Amino acid sequence: MTYTASPTTLAMLTALLEARTGQQLAANRAWRLDIALKPILRDHDLASLDALVETMMVGDVPLLADRIVDALVNSESSFFRDAPVFDLILEACAAVEAAGRRPRLWSAGCATGQEPLSLAMLFAERSAPGALMPEIVATDVSETALARAREGRYTQFEVQRGLPIGRLMRWFDGRDDEWTASPELTRAVQFRRCNLVADHVPPGRFDLVLCRNVLLYFAPAAKAEVFARLATALRPGGLLVLGAGETVIGQTQLFAPSRRFRGLYEKVAEPARRAA
Ligand SMILES: C[S@@+](CC[C@H](N)C(=O)[O-])C[C@H]1O[C@@H](n2cnc3c(N)ncnc32)[C@H](O)[C@@H]1O
Repeated sequence: MTYTASPTTLAMLTALLEARTGQQLAANRAWRLDIALKPILRDHDLASLDALVETMMVGDVPLLADRIVDALVNSESSFFRDAPVFDLILEACAAVEAAGRRPRLWSAGCATGQEPLSLAMLFAERSAPGALMPEIVATDVSETALARAREGRYTQFEVQRGLPIGRLMRWFDGRDDEWTASPELTRAVQFRRCNLVADHVPPGRFDLVLCRNVLLYFAPAAKAEVFARLATALRPGGLLVLGAGETVIGQTQLFAPSRRFRGLYEKVAEPARRAA
């Protein structure tokens, strides 16, 4: 794969991505540009990334910058990613239910929907009498990823990542190597767009927010800003779920490792924060 961007083009694409999403494009990930932007070059009959950036700057192709940003964000996901965390989520929600409330969950950075649909499956499979589906809100900055999530359509490769055959047969309808999630699952999730560095968080307080593998490439200041927004979206004592390789330690005072649910993070109460 040839790398076709001049340093100016590279700097402009990097700045665009960071301004729109908070994500930084590390130099060692610049190789992704060629692959990610190739379909846009083809659609607009452009020969290089330099030509793409020039076209974007002229501004006569509507929504070109949006499309570039959508192509550059990493929407990698899989069903039941880091599976043990889903047992913890069930336990945490059982505690909310025991307190007499229907849990509210937010999948922030839901990509193409595997994460919220895994939650919907998890809760739909509970056999306890009267067990209700929690409220599940799922958001992403990428309209392209969200459109796919709303459709609930996946390739053979995608369903093979994380779905055992029993779950696949129970919850998906397969045709021509394409699998469509049951409407019972897609109806259980409210999908909407939310840019974590620019938009209001979804209304109402949540019991648990998943923000997994989203902040990995954010600059420290943008990360801190997002943690603050996630904290405002959570009820007192609400829980934050990060990706397997992520932590709040050294990044924010607003969350601390949960003593009750090991591996999750708990919103720190205001007085405790002031005392710290
Ligand atoms: C690698 S995927 C992770 C998907 C899922 N959470 C998981 O762990 O499988 C990261 C997602 O974060 C989204 N994202 C990146 N920056 C964002 C922002 N500023 N606001 C909202 N979503 C963002 C991307 O569009 C992408 O879909």
